[in-house]
Amino acid sequence: MQDKIIAFPKKRGATEQASQYYLPVSLTPLIGRELEVIDICALLRRPEVRLLTLTGTGGVGKTRLGLEVAREMVDEYTDGICFVSLAPVSDPEQVIPAITQALGLRETGDRPLREHLQDYLQNREMLLLLDNFEQIVAAAPHLADLLAYCPELHLLITSRAPPDKASTYPAGLSAREVEVLRLLTQGLSDAEIAEHLVVSPRTVNTHLTSIYRKLQVTSRSAATRFAIEHQLV
Ligand SMILES: Nc1ncnc2c1ncn2[C@@H]1O[C@H](COP(=O)(O)OP(=O)(O)OP(=O)(O)O)[C@@H](O)[C@H]1O
Ligand SMILES: [Mg+2]
Repeated sequence: MQDKIIAFPKKRGATEQASQYYLPVSLTPLIGRELEVIDICALLRRPEVRLLTLTGTGGVGKTRLGLEVAREMVDEYTDGICFVSLAPVSDPEQVIPAITQALGLRETGDRPLREHLQDYLQNREMLLLLDNFEQIVAAAPHLADLLAYCPELHLLITSRAPPDKASTYPAGLSAREVEVLRLLTQGLSDAEIAEHLVVSPRTVNTHLTSIYRKLQVTSRSAATRFAIEHQLV
């Protein structure tokens, strides 16, 4: 069960109408995820990143992570951050109405809702957190149109993905850890791996610690040997 609070952006210039959006409150403390929050915020701050998707199996914590990021960044978007629950939406054509409703926009007679939404967002610096996009991926072109029309709009999306094949990797490595191990085997430094994966060096360090522990090795060369022997490269 989640309550609601209003997210007030503090940056100057926010319009009165746009300054009140709802972010569901989490009733329990966040456990871990500090590095993920840092990495996602850093990605969203890059001007070229207009859309970012958090994928994972059901219940893994995508929504929770998205909300933590939203809270962390609420002051950084002049016109605020708006949470849009798409869980009840199964028709791709209902995505625009769902966003419009979450923003509190009223229908405007015979004018298409899509145009109304585009006009509203066109000059606004906003982040929309679109939660549970998996049922309506066919609506992606609508989002592409919105991004094209609204230059300061950013989208953070959560989408459920089928269970990954992590369990098929040796030594219980996750897909991400295998990715890190491959780059390490190619001879990249920790800093280069971080740059390649667009994550912080601390995150790479965390992955490497976990990889070493799972492989029961203590050196890059031993980890590399494991990767080659298990044909992970
Ligand atoms: N890091 C965390 N610390 C504390 N609680 C968490 C954390 N991550 C997730 N939870 C809790 O676990 C539950 C499931 O998380 P969440 O709803 O974010 O999963 P989800 O990946 O969005 O699932 P779904 O695919 O079903 O939407 C929630 O009650 C959430 O508050
Ligand atoms: Mg969710």
